Amino acid sequence: MEEELKELVKQAESDILVCASYNDLLNIKAKYLGKKSVLNSLYAKMRDLPSEERPAFGNLINATRKNIEDLLEKQNKAIKEDAWKKSENRTAIDLTMPGIFSSRGGLHPLTIIRREIDEVFLGLGFEIAEGPDIDDDFHNFDALNTPPDHPSRNLADTFYLEGGGLLRTHTSTVQVRVMEKYPPPIKIISPGCCYRNDKPDPSHSPVFHQVEALVVDKDISLSDMKDMLSQFASIMFGKNVSSRIRPHFFPFTEPSAEMDISCVVCGGTGCRVCKYSGWIEMGGAGMVDPNVFDILGIDSEIYTGYAFGLGIERIAMLKYNIPDLRILYENDLRMLRQFKGELR
Ligand code: PHE
Repeated sequence: MEEELKELVKQAESDILVCASYNDLLNIKAKYLGKKSVLNSLYAKMRDLPSEERPAFGNLINATRKNIEDLLEKQNKAIKEDAWKKSENRTAIDLTMPGIFSSRGGLHPLTIIRREIDEVFLGLGFEIAEGPDIDDDFHNFDALNTPPDHPSRNLADTFYLEGGGLLRTHTSTVQVRVMEKYPPPIKIISPGCCYRNDKPDPSHSPVFHQVEALVVDKDISLSDMKDMLSQFASIMFGKNVSSRIRPHFFPFTEPSAEMDISCVVCGGTGCRVCKYSGWIEMGGAGMVDPNVFDILGIDSEIYTGYAFGLGIERIAMLKYNIPDLRILYENDLRMLRQFKGELR
């Protein structure tokens, strides 16, 4: 009898183990423990046994029943666990949870200003031209009428590269490249990086940015240049900001000038920013020297032109009230975060 019951448990176990749902389990439970089950019919048989054998027989049946019940419960748990695991994966995305915050970057103040300058000049009819940061003597000096003994060619000013070439000291290299390639009329700006062997201080950095403007056509005069500077100054800094030019010297312009705008902080009455002069220096300017046209094959009898170069750092410092140029290059997050605008 005992053997038969063991066999019954084995059979039940193999049936139970293939159950994949609670319903399957209920069917198996009915089969092995229900009213019509073999086990149940044994209870009836018990009545025919002599009373002294009944307890042992009863225990045997009960133990068998318990074994099968345990197996059923075990499988029931396994089915539930499996369903839970699957459902856990399905609901791993909790739509009510706040999103994972990823910090977005912002634009660097120099990029913001450079783009603003681009927009102003695009609005004034200029096109944007670019050239390489690594250039050569011809484009940086020779074609710009700079004599071989000019101090700006000095190692103390210019970074020369091993094996030839140099890091451009100004974006005037791009006016050379444009004039080499295109006939007049020309009306371009060239924004970009420049490099000079300067020690960093509040107003110098070995890497800085310029925007060069070049206009070449028939009948271009100094007054056109002055007008363009004034327009730029008033669009960039406000209507009441005026400009002036002062005589200066550059090898590639004749006459040459330095250009100033009226102090955007004090309006011209004098303050610390303008060193109590009422004016702020913006960069160099001048009428393109006919020698430059001759070198580049543009007929200087027919064409005239002007060029000027603005310092982007200077403009950014004025616009954002930044007292030290080096702050723009240290990339302290506390500074950069102030320029994230609507970005958090
Ligand atoms: N290239 C000059 C500089 O870097 C600026 C300049 C540009 C002067 C154009 C005249 C005309 O200082």
